[in-house]
Amino acid sequence: MLKKEAALYQSVLITGASSGIGEECAVFLAHKGFRVFAAARRLDKLKELAGAVGAGRITALAMDVTDEASIAAAMKTIAEDGAPLYGLVNNAGASSMGPLEKLPADEWRQVFETNVFGLAAVTRAVLPQMREAGRGRIVNIGSLTGRIASPFQGVYAASKHAVEGLSDSLRRELVPYGVKVSVVRPGAINTPFGAHEAEMLERYETDAPYGDQVTTFKAWFERQHPAAPGPSVVAEAVHHALTAEHPKSRYVAPPKMAYALALRNLLPSALTDRILERVNGLDMFRK
Ligand SMILES: NC(=O)c1ccc[n+]([C@@H]2O[C@H](COP(=O)([O-])OP(=O)(O)OC[C@H]3O[C@@H](n4cnc5c(N)ncnc54)[C@H](OP(=O)(O)O)[C@@H]3O)[C@@H](O)[C@H]2O)c1
Repeated sequence: MLKKEAALYQSVLITGASSGIGEECAVFLAHKGFRVFAAARRLDKLKELAGAVGAGRITALAMDVTDEASIAAAMKTIAEDGAPLYGLVNNAGASSMGPLEKLPADEWRQVFETNVFGLAAVTRAVLPQMREAGRGRIVNIGSLTGRIASPFQGVYAASKHAVEGLSDSLRRELVPYGVKVSVVRPGAINTPFGAHEAEMLERYETDAPYGDQVTTFKAWFERQHPAAPGPSVVAEAVHHALTAEHPKSRYVAPPKMAYALALRNLLPSALTDRILERVNGLDMFRK
């Protein structure tokens, strides 16, 4: 671990910090002594958060990760602070739920703009200063869905699979520059994200031919997030990735969900399909 005195002045940029996991990471890291730049589109929420933590530990930054100009403006504010950024937590995320056949193309684009191209744009913006400093940490918030793709979640799953791939490339590219890259893969976490995803399924419940499947899946899906752990399990993994001398390339949050990945890696796909269907109730539709 970094020594406590050293951690006191490390600065970290967190995207999507106005809610859920990003907000929790901002508070957690600020209390651990980090200087936090908390970014999102809802500046009012970020200002509230900065005020609640106090002592100038959190700076609120308006940033839409899909808008290069807003990324540049936020980077200018960070540069004015004087110290090079030590960490970036790419957390901003969007989802779209529904049968692949039905999902509108603009929703595909919006999810990829945020989860993949936006993540890459913010990463590009911070890399020169990290490389020049010869140190830095990039923590990409992926998802278990980046390895195990449920039905009706294909766009989101595809975007999180992309995060896995680009994180592997980036980690290997940055070895000579002292910049370390980790992916944190949350399982279901109790934030506003899950309820929003469930809402997106509603529009397909009466839509032939997938309606009955969607209704069955949604009934299972909307039970997951309220019963899931809170975002602190993710903040702990992010903190480890930022501070451990040898951060892991991948974290699962909560760690006990690693069993799902182990099963996915060990079992043949046909068997994994059957297990998933049994769990989410879709087995009744199998022909
Ligand atoms: N909750 C889960 O079960 C779960 C599981 C696995 C992975 N994840 C991942 O964890 C991350 C955070 O999710 P969460 O659960 O904390 O969801 P959340 O509470 O809905 O927060 C999402 C955050 O992303 C920000 N955001 C969305 N689009 C943005 C954009 N274009 N530019 C900047 N910020 C943007 C939102 O802020 P503004 O609207 O203010 O911009 C918000 O702060 C996401 O990457 C998600 O995929 C979540």
